[in-house]
Amino acid sequence: MRFFGLCPQNDDVTNLSPLTTHHSLLIIKAKKFLIYNISMILITGGAGYIGSHCVYELLKHNNDVIVFDNLSTGHKEIIDELKKYRDFKFVLGDLKNKNDIDELFKNYDIDSVIHFAGLSIVSESVKNPKIYYENNVLGSLNLFNSMIENNVKKIVFSSTCAIYGDPDYLPIDENHQKKPINPYGKTKLTVENILDDYDYSYGLKSVRLRYFNACGASTEINIGEWHNNETHLIPNILKSALTNKNTLNIFGTDYPTKDGTCIRDYVNIEDLINAHIKALDYLGKYNSTNVFNIGTGLGNSVKEIISECEKIHAQKIKYNISPKRDGDPAVLTANNNKAKDILKWVPDKMIKDTILSAYNWEKYLLLRSIKECNKT
Ligand code: UFG
Repeated sequence: MRFFGLCPQNDDVTNLSPLTTHHSLLIIKAKKFLIYNISMILITGGAGYIGSHCVYELLKHNNDVIVFDNLSTGHKEIIDELKKYRDFKFVLGDLKNKNDIDELFKNYDIDSVIHFAGLSIVSESVKNPKIYYENNVLGSLNLFNSMIENNVKKIVFSSTCAIYGDPDYLPIDENHQKKPINPYGKTKLTVENILDDYDYSYGLKSVRLRYFNACGASTEINIGEWHNNETHLIPNILKSALTNKNTLNIFGTDYPTKDGTCIRDYVNIEDLINAHIKALDYLGKYNSTNVFNIGTGLGNSVKEIISECEKIHAQKIKYNISPKRDGDPAVLTANNNKAKDILKWVPDKMIKDTILSAYNWEKYLLLRSIKECNKT
């Protein structure tokens, strides 16, 4: 087992980083803990946005992880960045090929799984539901079947508040009706239903975390939200602030909200990951299936988020008013009492700090792409 030390540096990359000075001085002061009764943890989708932050947290706390990713939306560069912190096994494979996942369970002594791999863009799912059902449903089914065949019976699953659909009341609790209004939400609900049946019949225990709007970036290493075709609000605002190329669009200003723009529950990535650690611990301790909303309970409108970004950027950020996007509910906020009571999960990051971390990450991505261009 390794213990903690200085966060590793790499001249090429960290020279570009706004975090460099901070990092070179930073001694990670994480407390050593091991997840209750768990040895090797498989992370599917560990090269993606949320998965990579989870890998880092587990590495930081000396857990043994193996990452499985097809790199369709994740990045090899993120794996390399994580490996600078501590080495781990990375397997390139696709959950849609059951053989790939069978090999994994055959070759490694995996005890539990955190399943992030999947597609998650609502608009894309409306245009191309086929790839959502293949990746999210078929991929998950292959994983669960392989787990059962290999007697691995604990999983934390990335679900979403999109399974609730248009809310009947706010904030949304876990008992709210499930009536997703887009294929993305439907695929996640289908997987949740499979998990219920697999618990009943095969004893597969799951904790499903229904995320609200994940945002922000690591404050410790150079990882963050990195989609080739970005659709999310905070990265889009910051890209538009930092470059002249991207024009920010506000999708709809006549929603029945205080300023006419949509309200979402923005949950910091490091807080969100903390919920996964607590969920794994819960599975280890209680060997019981459960489901939790993971949001702050607070809501911010699109215009409020733009205004927070302007404070950090210290300049006005231009935007256009565009038509509403299909399938955007006016308000989504979480009732997170259950996660607080049972998991003892308390989100404690302020939105301004979350946006600052996203801003630093966007600057890093921008400088990185300039450096790549200069090479060619
Ligand atoms: N928005 C803009 N301009 C943009 C991007 C977004 O005005 O350039 C608005 C959207 O219309 C929406 C809000 O900002 O009102 C948030 O949009 P995001 O795309 O950032 O996030 P979503 O709420 O649409 O989706 C996210 C996840 C989904 C998850 C959903 C649950 O991407 O996977 O939260 O709310 F299902």
